[in-house]
Amino acid sequence: MPEFGSDEIGQLSKAFNYMTSRLSDALAQNEEEKEKLASILTNMSDGVIATDENNKVILMNRRASEMLMVDEELAGNMDIMELLHLTEEEQAILAQGTMHSTLLENETFEGDEFMIRVTFTPIHRREIGIVGTIAVLQDVTEQEKLEASRREFVANVSHELRTPLTTIKSYTEALEDGAMQDAELGPKFASVIQNQTERMIRLVTDLLHLSRLDSKEAELRKRPMNVMDMLEEVADRFSFQMQEKGIKPNLSADNGVGTVWIDRDQIDQVLDNLISNALKYTPEGGTLSLEARDMHDGMLAISVQDNGMGIPKKDQERIFERFYRVDKARSRNMGGTGLGLSIAREIVKAHGGTIWLQSELGKGTKVTFTLPLQEQGAGCHEGKYKITGTCFACCLQFDPELFLNLSSTGQRSGCEDGK
Ligand SMILES: Nc1ncnc2c1ncn2[C@@H]1O[C@H](COP(=O)(O)OP(=O)(O)OP(=O)(O)O)[C@@H](O)[C@H]1O
Ligand SMILES: [Mg+2]
Repeated sequence: MPEFGSDEIGQLSKAFNYMTSRLSDALAQNEEEKEKLASILTNMSDGVIATDENNKVILMNRRASEMLMVDEELAGNMDIMELLHLTEEEQAILAQGTMHSTLLENETFEGDEFMIRVTFTPIHRREIGIVGTIAVLQDVTEQEKLEASRREFVANVSHELRTPLTTIKSYTEALEDGAMQDAELGPKFASVIQNQTERMIRLVTDLLHLSRLDSKEAELRKRPMNVMDMLEEVADRFSFQMQEKGIKPNLSADNGVGTVWIDRDQIDQVLDNLISNALKYTPEGGTLSLEARDMHDGMLAISVQDNGMGIPKKDQERIFERFYRVDKARSRNMGGTGLGLSIAREIVKAHGGTIWLQSELGKGTKVTFTLPLQEQGAGCHEGKYKITGTCFACCLQFDPELFLNLSSTGQRSGCEDGK
């Protein structure tokens, strides 16, 4: 509006112009705020649904429509109770207007189960009462799964400890009640108590090992190790048990397979667990093969194969889980805790490899795990290696230049693994 002079009309035009500019600023600001809010709602990782006082949906963001698998447009004006399939009980609590949250279980189109926590916040307005509700939807599938596996783990540990404890208790009572004086029963009961105590020690040791692996507390002390030597040594460790069962091991390794970078103690534990399983679940006179293969992708595969009882298809998927056993009672009678394969899996994972199993019921089982053949970014660390044995080879293999340098300056001494 043109402003002429400074008389009343002029001042009025000025005031009008000022008001117009303030109004358009305010409108622009309002628009900006609206856009900001819309973009926040669209990009939120939680779902948001707003309803009016009759529980009809008036707003729903993209995440909410993804979670509930409904079209944003179609959900408009729908009843929220219907949309979320709330029970009558939940509807009653919601109607009272107190804040409330509930857990919805849903299934994706692929059939995977997922869980949504919905938190309702009623919007109160003075004198009018409840004018609507805001529902915030959070995907808590992972959280709930973790919580469930934690609960299952605690239940399993308690159960596994309770069994030997109950046995110990009843046998000590029997000893107290007079069995101690019996020349035959006394030593027999004492040996049962000893066995059960050893079983509990084994269980607790395994649990501590797993917890150290979980917390990544135990740093891997990787060294170059000769694969064939390692397989021969593990077969030697079990030679007595194998002889007892009339099992003769077959050892084989690809020509190219020489050394591998591993924490020897940990990988020995993996091999021990796999071989003890093969021996436990294979009848007398069975066969056992240990094989090392170069996968030609920088990985070494080691497999332990037996021709024993095998594992049913339905159990194979869960066999690496903690405490999972095909036949709980049988395994427990054999002294098993059901932790062997899960420990093996954690150790292999920590080395950057994978572990899997092929098995046919009644025909046998083959467990294979992979390990990286070379240490990532390995070099010869100054002062760590002497020029003898494995250390010599390691320097040459990974950093010949540094090795020569160190040789000439005489800096090599005190190899870490004592060679
Ligand atoms: N080679 C195998 N042949 C047949 N079944 C096997 C074999 N290896 C494992 N299993 C099955 O998998 C289950 C889990 O094995 P895992 O080594 O984890 O536990 P475990 O042997 O029962 O106890 P632990 O090793 O802790 O003493 C076993 O109880 C057994 O049912
Ligand atoms: Mg085992």
